[in-house]
Parts: sequence; structure tokens; C-alpha cells
Amino acid sequence: MVEVSTSILSMKEKEEIKTIMGLETAKTDYFHIDVMDGKFVEKNTYEKMIEYSSYIKRISNLPLDVHLMVKDIKKAIYDFTALEPNIITFHYEACKNKEEVLEIIDLIKDNHCRVGIAVKPDTKIEEIYEILPYVHMCLIMTVEPGKGGQTLITDMLEKIKKLKTYVKEKQLEIDIEVDGGINLNTAERVKNVGANILVAGTAILKAVDYKTIIEELKK
Ligand code: DX5
Ligand code: ZN
Repeated sequence: MVEVSTSILSMKEKEEIKTIMGLETAKTDYFHIDVMDGKFVEKNTYEKMIEYSSYIKRISNLPLDVHLMVKDIKKAIYDFTALEPNIITFHYEACKNKEEVLEIIDLIKDNHCRVGIAVKPDTKIEEIYEILPYVHMCLIMTVEPGKGGQTLITDMLEKIKKLKTYVKEKQLEIDIEVDGGINLNTAERVKNVGANILVAGTAILKAVDYKTIIEELKK
């Protein structure tokens, strides 16, 4: 079944608590926490995402879906496991080699957290096949990481389909999450090719009624 993970990157200042409570009432499945360090991507949301995650932990039981867009992954794992996320996803491109990827996977698991691997649009999906047996989720970026409100890169549909085919062939139990430019126009297309967790920020936060848009995205 399809789940929705709402990115809180673009929450309006001073309306954070109201937004979080509205999203909880609207039954988002996850809060998507976009952690950016100003090095792996230009923006720096690091401290703000720690603050937002602590608000969520205080007022909601819904799970945190942490998306690390950082160079120093180990530091971010240390900082964010304190907030007891449901899953921590890091970027394949932030690792030097396969050994480091496997080391990071083990570190996240040692912190009692599920693991996701994220790939940027230009990374070939075949590059991460060999590590899929060790993760719970693969996050396919459908925009260049770094900011919200971008348009979905349609070439990514083929990439999602390729991953879904491989996962089915190998009988792997992993979620396929897509992130960037997901809205009522693009949701159908990414679901049709195999995505089962949809990240949406702008499409949900700008909606008048969070519940309706979340239900529509899941249909
Ligand atoms: C971009 C982030 C995405 C983004 C999604 O680097 O990883 O999660 O905030 O925002 P929308 O849904 O507005 O494209
Ligand atoms: Zn994200």
C-alpha cells in the first residue's frame, strides 16, 4: 500500500506547531525531515531540522523519516538517532566507496534504526543493487536534492521502474520512496512504476486541506 511522507522543509515560520498538528490530524504516515549541511547541498537546514524533529517528538507519535543530505553522515547519525527516527536515509554519493556504505548501514542499525539509501538523479540505479539486501528502503530523488518546489524529472520514472523490476526479481523486501516534485499530477505516474512511499512538501503544505491532498496522493 502507498504511504505519504510529508516534507516539513518549507513549513511557515511561527506556524510550525500548528502545521505539525494539522499534518498529524490529516494522517500523514511520516514526517520527512530534510537535513542539509550546506556542504553536500547548498542550503543548511541542520539545526532547524533538529529543532523541528524535537517539536514533533514532543507532540506527535508519528514516525520520523530522516533524509540526510550531508557529507559528515556519522555526525548526523549521532545527532538524529537521539530523536529516535523510524528510518535514517543517507546518500550513496556522500560515501567514498562500498565499504563506507556498508559501515554506515551497520552504524544506523547499531543505533536501532531502519536504513534507507538515497540516490541523486544522475546516479545509475545499478550502482546500488549490491547493497539493497542490507537496507529497508531505497529513496530515488526525482529532483536534484537541495530545495523544495522543483519539478519532477520525468527520466526518473524509468529508473523507478528498473528498481521495482529488480526488487521483484530478487524478491527483496524493500520500500521504494520517491522525493521531489510529487503532486496530484505526478503521483499516479510514480505509483504506476512501483513507488510505494511518496514524499511531498510543497503540494501538501500549500493545500487548503491536508487530509484531502494526502488521501488523494495515496489513491
Ligand atoms: C529536496 C528534498 C525534498 C523536497 C520535497 O532536497 O529532499 O524532500 O523538500 O519538496 P517538494 O515536495 O516541494 O518537491
Ligand atoms: Zn527529502
